[in-house]
Amino acid sequence: MFLRGILLFHSFTSLWNAIEAAPYEGQARLTPEGPDDWQKYVRSPPSPIVYPARIVASYTQGNVTNPEGLFTGKGSTLFTRNAPTNATSPDIPPTIVVDFGQNIAGYLSVSFGGSYNSTPGRPGIRLAFSETLEYLTDFSDFSRGYNGDTITPGSDQIAVSAQPYTWKDAHGCEYGNQVCADGFHGFRYVKVYLDALAADAPYTTSYGQVAVKSMSMNFSGYLGTPETFTGWFKSSDEQLNQWWFDGVYTTDLCTDIFGVNDTDPRNSASPSIIGKLVLHDGAKRDRDPYVGDLAVSARTSYLSHDIPLATRNVLADLADHQRADGWIPPASINGYTLPLLDYPLWWVVCSYDLFMYTGDTAYIQQYYPNIIKVLDTFYPSITDSRTQLLSKGFGVSGGYGDYAFIGRTGPVTYYNALYVLALQNAATIANFLSNDTDAARWTSRAQLVSSAINTYNFDSSVGAFYDGTCGDSYCNTHAQDGNSLSIVTGVANSSRANSVLSYLSQANARPYGNAFYDNDVVSGGYSQRVYAFVSYFEIEARFIAGQADTALEEIRRLYGWMSTHDPEITQWEGIGPNGQPYEGAYTSMAHGWGTGIVPVLTNYILGVIPSGHGFSIYTIKPVPGDIEWAKGVVPTPKGPITVNWQQKKVLGLFFLTATAPAGTQGTVYVPVSNSTVPVYLDSIPIPNSAHERDFEEGGVGYVSVSISDSLTHTISVGYNAGP
Ligand SMILES: *[C@@H]1O[C@H](CO)[C@@H](O)[C@H](O)[C@H]1NC(C)=O
Ligand SMILES: *[C@@H]1O[C@H](CO)[C@@H](O)[C@H](O)[C@H]1NC(C)=O
Ligand SMILES: *[C@@H]1O[C@H](CO)[C@@H](O)[C@H](O)[C@H]1NC(C)=O
Ligand SMILES: *[C@@H]1O[C@H](CO)[C@@H](O)[C@H](O)[C@H]1NC(C)=O
Ligand SMILES: *[C@@H]1O[C@H](CO)[C@@H](O)[C@H](O)[C@H]1NC(C)=O
Ligand SMILES: *[C@@H]1O[C@H](CO)[C@@H](O)[C@H](O)[C@H]1NC(C)=O
Ligand SMILES: *[C@@H]1O[C@H](CO)[C@@H](O)[C@H](O)[C@H]1NC(C)=O
Repeated sequence: MFLRGILLFHSFTSLWNAIEAAPYEGQARLTPEGPDDWQKYVRSPPSPIVYPARIVASYTQGNVTNPEGLFTGKGSTLFTRNAPTNATSPDIPPTIVVDFGQNIAGYLSVSFGGSYNSTPGRPGIRLAFSETLEYLTDFSDFSRGYNGDTITPGSDQIAVSAQPYTWKDAHGCEYGNQVCADGFHGFRYVKVYLDALAADAPYTTSYGQVAVKSMSMNFSGYLGTPETFTGWFKSSDEQLNQWWFDGVYTTDLCTDIFGVNDTDPRNSASPSIIGKLVLHDGAKRDRDPYVGDLAVSARTSYLSHDIPLATRNVLADLADHQRADGWIPPASINGYTLPLLDYPLWWVVCSYDLFMYTGDTAYIQQYYPNIIKVLDTFYPSITDSRTQLLSKGFGVSGGYGDYAFIGRTGPVTYYNALYVLALQNAATIANFLSNDTDAARWTSRAQLVSSAINTYNFDSSVGAFYDGTCGDSYCNTHAQDGNSLSIVTGVANSSRANSVLSYLSQANARPYGNAFYDNDVVSGGYSQRVYAFVSYFEIEARFIAGQADTALEEIRRLYGWMSTHDPEITQWEGIGPNGQPYEGAYTSMAHGWGTGIVPVLTNYILGVIPSGHGFSIYTIKPVPGDIEWAKGVVPTPKGPITVNWQQKKVLGLFFLTATAPAGTQGTVYVPVSNSTVPVYLDSIPIPNSAHERDFEEGGVGYVSVSISDSLTHTISVGYNAGP
């Protein structure tokens, strides 16, 4: 942020007696913004057993009697398939497609009314699951089978009994290694068809008659019903409100107990994590908790539900598998060996977030030595001593990947800007632990790296940071990740930040978000690919730079796209050319790292950010843009922080009311349009001598006051806002 001047803080306690006595008449007041009816946005099913929403009629084919019969009170649905009488007679498997109405994750149950077959073998039912209609085929859009598990070819098979019974999807086979099912699925649609695999003979046949009485789904993941919310967000913008809750639901779908048979089968089921609550990357896949994903999804989790254990279990497990050279694995996959270069830095950042959002002092003390080792042993081993920049190619780093397995080399801006963030966060932690030496060392290294990024990596010809090198010189390409983090970390000063943001707006904007590269120099298609993950840091950067309008514009393009394209509610792993899921059917359409809308609205529209552990120190600084009012609750270990603000731009009025728990220290910033507009604290004018206003060129400034009690305070701005 680029505020000039000195901020002088008020002490509320000293003003409080005067405030109580003050008259409170004739003043422009907050107008009611409607009820706190945020519960209507909650996407969780009301209970774990979920029933289908509808049959997708246009997909029904073959001989199906009463396709809607599987709904309660509608009888049953009958599938009939007779062996063809001759080679040319049609043989269409009777098929229905069941829509659960929204993306969900869990275990399907089918209540069968029995089956009949004139020849030996039971009629087979096959199930194919999909998050989207586009990728719905006779095989699931993803199954563990495509990742190395061998029990199914991608559909789930059932040998339907003659007598009525309820079949529950479970990982395993009905007969030896025949008639097998995956068990867990993340999906919105399921295709149900009467058919059998040749390999399942003689247990199943493709012919006969099957009655389905009903279907349901046993929800896995965190059932985030309204009473489970510890924080919420509401504003004058209905779309933003819904997207905030969509993001929470997406992260809830990824929050689950780590199981052997429902997670990534590529050697990820470590005994140290099995049976623990974790925050997976995606509901459908990989279903392994990755620490880069947590950089976003853990914040979503902390701000909505009281389940920090899901994040803590992952961070602790990864730290427990730290390598001797200090490197920390990104996830349990491949027995904790997947070589990523950026994720150990995200581990530091995520540890800081856990400490800041939840105040977990025991965690930070226990894992402080891991922070020292990763920052002081691993990263120095890949540092170019001539420049002080991390350089991909140095030490072991040559073959390492990152969140998108981008083939880049040299002093990559993203790795270095993220290194600065990790060093800054680590220094804050060290200060808390009274380890001044570590804090000073990390702070000064952060400054060295920051200035080296500015010295070597800035491309003045376009006004943005280069990505990395192609041979001996910089590649002519600029990435969203490093450029955004350069602003989030303060590596870019105000003029560079503004030029970077203009460049990204002009070069990276697509109808469905901002691309992670401006062109295809590093790889084909990169200029058309959008990750909500790194877009979060660009949106944050825009708010930090005071550009609420461009931040909201990017949010509306990105989240507007995802929310209006199948499966519509959950937020995606990645978006490719023409706004399609970027890896086709394999793409996870409910990915926690796509939920940056949650922290970004809470941190920058409501305005609440922790800067001391467990919000012991916090700021409230709304960057309102075109939003007329916002309110909500931010959970902290000591109790909720409640904020409610409203602006009346044409009248030049702004009101903010906040309450925070005892034992916390807050600084509240209210936007002012110039240095003459009056500001009141609980209707008492704040003397001009007691505060400082700061302006960017043409932008808004802020007046700040401090709160150190648990009373409710109102700060009002405007000529008609006082008594
Ligand atoms: C479809 O199945 C039903 C029930 O078995 C049967 O009565 C009907 O004749 C079948 N229709 C066709 C066109 O085969
Ligand atoms: C094949 O069976 C269909 C009915 O399924 C019938 O209409 C057709 O006449 C038969 N063709 C021959 C050559 O028997
Ligand atoms: C996992 O699935 C296998 C069958 O593939 C089964 O034998 C095993 O018991 C399952 N394990 C758990 C913990 O459910
Ligand atoms: C749903 O799953 C939960 C947890 O696995 C289990 O305890 C419960 O019995 C299941 N409910 C039904 C109706 O199968
Ligand atoms: C600070 O960290 C260093 C290791 O970098 C350790 O030797 C020292 O004991 C720590 N001091 C405190 C006060 O924790
Ligand atoms: C930002 O840094 C650049 C390069 O060092 C410098 O030219 C520019 O004046 C700086 N801008 C501000 C506002 O300090
Ligand atoms: C300062 O801002 C207020 C509120 O927007 C406005 O009414 C007033 O005209 C402004 N004064 C100046 C000098 O720009």
